[in-house]
Amino acid sequence: MSVLLTGGLGYIGSHTAVELLNANEDVVIIDNLSNSDLSVKEKIKKIVSATREINEINFKVYVGDVRDYKFLNQVFSENKIDSVIHFAGLKAVGESVAKPLAYYDNNLISTINLLEVMKAHGVKNFVFSSSATVYGAAKSMPIYEDFPTGATNPYGRTKLFIEEILKDVYASDNSFNFIILRYFNPIGAHDSGLIGENPNGIPNNLMPYISRVATGKLDCLSVFGNDYNTKDGTGVRDYIHVVDLALGHVCAIKKLKSKCGLKIYNLGTGVGYSVLDIVNAYNKVCGNKVKYKIVARRPGDVDVCYANADKAYKELHWKAERDLENMCKTSYNFEKQQKSGN
Ligand code: NAD
Ligand code: UD1
Repeated sequence: MSVLLTGGLGYIGSHTAVELLNANEDVVIIDNLSNSDLSVKEKIKKIVSATREINEINFKVYVGDVRDYKFLNQVFSENKIDSVIHFAGLKAVGESVAKPLAYYDNNLISTINLLEVMKAHGVKNFVFSSSATVYGAAKSMPIYEDFPTGATNPYGRTKLFIEEILKDVYASDNSFNFIILRYFNPIGAHDSGLIGENPNGIPNNLMPYISRVATGKLDCLSVFGNDYNTKDGTGVRDYIHVVDLALGHVCAIKKLKSKCGLKIYNLGTGVGYSVLDIVNAYNKVCGNKVKYKIVARRPGDVDVCYANADKAYKELHWKAERDLENMCKTSYNFEKQQKSGN
């Protein structure tokens, strides 16, 4: 039986594919390459074949769109799929404000289509990539799963709407098992340096921006505000290594097989670092190459955001283990292998 990863050639999906294959799961990926490229398929194989015989690995990639019902139905007909991890989606907050319909179309239609096809094929195990963004501006820290939810932009609303859709589908058919994973801030890359986050154009997120400054592709990091209510005035977030996050999905797949019903888990470290903590840690790794200047706040940013991840520890037996130095080192190592900052 296989695990289907929609968006499996993307940043988090590719690391998850590696960890699932390492755990002897069979993996099928669907990706429309809107934010990835096919070379990632060979990189995943290369990483896994360092520890497993290549002919023992059961791994397929389909290029296509999750919104295409006929195509999706064909993938389910050609493979014995018993679980799905739904990574596919658009994820840039700013772009979602400018193009809300593109976000509602891609993120919502893909999910509805997927659930329809799963139902038609009797596949009942589903993991969803949600985000800490669904907590909006939380009133206190750390954030627990039962905190109120709310969204401040179309991207966040697609995550919230999908969570609600999953709850409704579960209420109508409790033979489904749904695990909603709310990721905090994934950063870092695989130890091999072969896969990592490589956004098109100028990065919106902190870590890819820092990596491009450190490698000379961009001049200087703009730190968005130093007047937040934090120890050094810069924003605090819960940064989690993407490999730890990927391992959280392996645990979620195990949990689904125990017929868990609908569950929600925070995947974070429980520790908050400021922007300057990240810059300083990165500078230790790369030899002081990250120049920065303080600029105005970015609209919509909150002071502090970090998780309580005890529920995932208790119920999924998962805990983030990689430290900030490792997150910086692997990001830098990956970025050095990318040709240009495009
Ligand atoms: P990513 O853009 O690297 O990966 C998403 C992949 O999905 C890409 O390879 C893209 O080509 C593919 N895709 C998009 N729409 C598709 C469609 N309709 N059909 C088929 N393939 C499609 O993003 P990521 O960082 O790996 O994020 C994965 C998921 O996790 C997303 O749903 C994202 O919203 C969520 N998430 C990400 C973060 C983060 O910081 N990276 C944080 C919280 C939640
Ligand atoms: C952002 C999104 C969030 C999404 C997450 C993962 C916003 C408002 N939030 O989270 O919805 O789930 O990415 O994709 O876009 N910073 C700088 N300079 C930069 C970039 C960032 O100082 O060039 C600061 C930010 O102000 C923040 C921290 O670094 O304090 C982290 O920012 P970022 O990496 O963009 O993540 P979030 O804003 O937490």
